[in-house]
Amino acid sequence: MTLIQWNEELCVGINQVDEEHQQLVAIVNQLDEAMTSGKGTRIMGEILAQLVQYTKVHFESEEELMADANFPDLDLHRKQHRQLVQKVEKFQRDFNHSGRRITREMMDFLRYWLANHILVDDKAFGRFCTSAGLSPTRVLANG
Ligand SMILES: [Fe+2]
Repeated sequence: MTLIQWNEELCVGINQVDEEHQQLVAIVNQLDEAMTSGKGTRIMGEILAQLVQYTKVHFESEEELMADANFPDLDLHRKQHRQLVQKVEKFQRDFNHSGRRITREMMDFLRYWLANHILVDDKAFGRFCTSAGLSPTRVLANG
């Protein structure tokens, strides 16, 4: 069964953020799938590395949008992002150094954190943008 089922409720209403969230959810689901189906450690290690990397990319992009929009809760939000990055990096260290296992606890933590963060904190940013009449997109370097 899919760990996190993507649905409308998870949409924050900012296209870029929603697309990146779907990507993040897809990676978490892949990791869960790999764990439950007993995939080899090499594959799990690769997915975990992808999760760490994409988490950072997405958070950076979200924080950039928040800064552009002058979102008042940016500092707090940044702190929450930093805590999750530290946590997934710790998962990765544990995976690499102690038995190379992904545990059910890790997956439950990720599922809970991600869904809760999107539903509560990222949606607050979505509402802020709606009420301020903003539809933020990242300005690409060559755009
Ligand atoms: Fe966020």
